[in-house]
Amino acid sequence: MRNHSFPFWVVLALLVDGVLVAVTDEVKPVSVMKGDSVILNTGVSELQSDNTIEWIFGDKLIIAKMEGKKISIIVFRDKLNLENENGSLIIKDITNEQEGLYKVDIRGRYETSKRFNVTVREAMKTVSVKKGESVTLHTGVIEIQGYDLIKWKFEEHLIAEINQGTNLFILEDSSDERFKGRLQLSEKSGSLTISDSETTDSGVYHLNMISSSHTVQRTISVTVKAFIPDNHTPDSGLHPGYVALISVIVLVMLVAAVTLVICYRTRNQTSEFI
Ligand SMILES: *[C@@H]1O[C@H](CO)[C@@H](O)[C@H](O)[C@H]1NC(C)=O
Ligand SMILES: *[C@@H]1O[C@H](CO)[C@@H](O)[C@H](O)[C@H]1NC(C)=O
Repeated sequence: MRNHSFPFWVVLALLVDGVLVAVTDEVKPVSVMKGDSVILNTGVSELQSDNTIEWIFGDKLIIAKMEGKKISIIVFRDKLNLENENGSLIIKDITNEQEGLYKVDIRGRYETSKRFNVTVREAMKTVSVKKGESVTLHTGVIEIQGYDLIKWKFEEHLIAEINQGTNLFILEDSSDERFKGRLQLSEKSGSLTISDSETTDSGVYHLNMISSSHTVQRTISVTVKAFIPDNHTPDSGLHPGYVALISVIVLVMLVAAVTLVICYRTRNQTSEFI
């Protein structure tokens, strides 16, 4: 299946002076969203002590190196790291600055080189909806063919998974009754839709997409807001404006009544002296 998605796969394996050289002209497309964590695989399971690894960005900018066990991060220091075991490149919290072509050169007894084309799209890191509305969490890929495994987790619970290897397509409702019958997974894009959202669906969702060449990790924060009626609360009786108006009228009437009483008394007292 994977062979179909990469028809231009060309590998030349040459034995030159006892050194096995693998050459490939293939550029792996890696489509991610801003803020994702990405791992670009060297494809080497375990490095030999004589291996050196060089990660190159763009034309010739060396961004990271590994000589034996010694790792040096040269560019994007707060973003990059290398896996100890296999020299795979970890890019954390990716931005547009890290978009472009990556190349890894592995030297030693087994020499190989791999290229990746990383494109960074606008992210949807936080989503806010009203209770009852549906929410779609996007993988950002059009076709999931390139991925062997796609996993969606809510907090720490697995809620959905597409496994190309075992042809598994599951929505994990059983372990968590919370989403019962409200989850849909697009078989084409792997995007997850939560319908008829509840306030308890609020929280952090984790996406993990794994292929033989790379891994993408994403977290999306979802907030489901309860429906709050606006200020015109029907049960409180009167509008504050009316209350103010009535207060003014009552006050005016009171002043008038007091004035009348005083006038009446004054007149009565005056008449007594007559
Ligand atoms: C590379 O090593 C890390 C652990 O350091 C491991 O999680 C990962 O699966 C390895 N990748 C490959 C392609 O072997
Ligand atoms: C890298 O990907 C972009 C966007 O898909 C594309 O325009 C560009 O041609 C690709 N470059 C290579 C060398 O594959």
